[in-house]
Amino acid sequence: MQRRVALVTGGVGGIGTAVCKRLAADGHFVVANAIPGTEERWREAMAAAGLNGDRTALAFGDVTDFEAMGEMVAAIARDHGPVEILVNCAGITRDVTFRKMTLEQWRSVLATNLDSVFNVTRHVIEAMIERGWGRIVNISSVNAVRGQFGQTNYAAAKAGILGFTKSLAQEVVKKGVTVNAISPGYVQTDMVMAIREDVRRQIVEQIPAGRLAMPEEVADAVAFLASEKAAYITGTNLAVNGGLHMYA
Ligand code: CAA
Repeated sequence: MQRRVALVTGGVGGIGTAVCKRLAADGHFVVANAIPGTEERWREAMAAAGLNGDRTALAFGDVTDFEAMGEMVAAIARDHGPVEILVNCAGITRDVTFRKMTLEQWRSVLATNLDSVFNVTRHVIEAMIERGWGRIVNISSVNAVRGQFGQTNYAAAKAGILGFTKSLAQEVVKKGVTVNAISPGYVQTDMVMAIREDVRRQIVEQIPAGRLAMPEEVADAVAFLASEKAAYITGTNLAVNGGLHMYA
């Protein structure tokens, strides 16, 4: 397999860390984007997996800051080579019913979960097109399509990612660049474990698989869409949700 340079935004989070491990295990050089001070567990996970500094690196920067992302992508290109695989994985929740939602809770979720996809992709796309090869995998959510009580902000942002994915996919497929989304269901991460226990139990009861997903199960799907073999798959939305929602 050809070694590529991969950038994973939100790379130190629950899904992000699993994606980093999987892409590095596949032989790629993986850069995890993070906010400074959040990387300790990621470092431990990489060390435990034997994925040291010549297989992985950290790149600090706030995905809501367009200029900062430009500088980060340029620094990665200088130090490691141009980004060939981009996994837009940065995401937060500010779950609250709409009638209690503040403008700040709306804006922060839209900025981190949706603006981030523009802010980073805009800076990597030209080099992918020039080289005639690129893979962009955007992490959406089952709740993009299904909606979720308490998530008007999150569901709107994640649904926005799906429209972005299908549009950009059409623009760049002739240039060898694919753009796909993955919609995880409820995954065993800090984000999901933060849901009130009784609410979470009710959600798990609705999942036909009867359990949460493991982050590695999402990472395996990312690895496939990022691979050479997925060259003819673009603009799709791959569900990894244990049967919670079936699209077709
Ligand atoms: N469906 C229907 N009614 C609900 C409800 C639900 N899921 N949850 C709460 N309610 C009702 C309550 O029964 C209550 O009704 P009454 O006033 O008639 O008694 C009312 O709504 C309570 O409203 P509150 O504003 O007080 O809500 P709350 O504080 O109890 O809880 C919430 C609101 C925190 C948003 C809670 O509903 C919640 O945590 N929901 C889950 C959100 C969720 O799934 N988040 C996913 C996070 S992980 C993720 O996002 C990853 C991914 O991609 C899947």
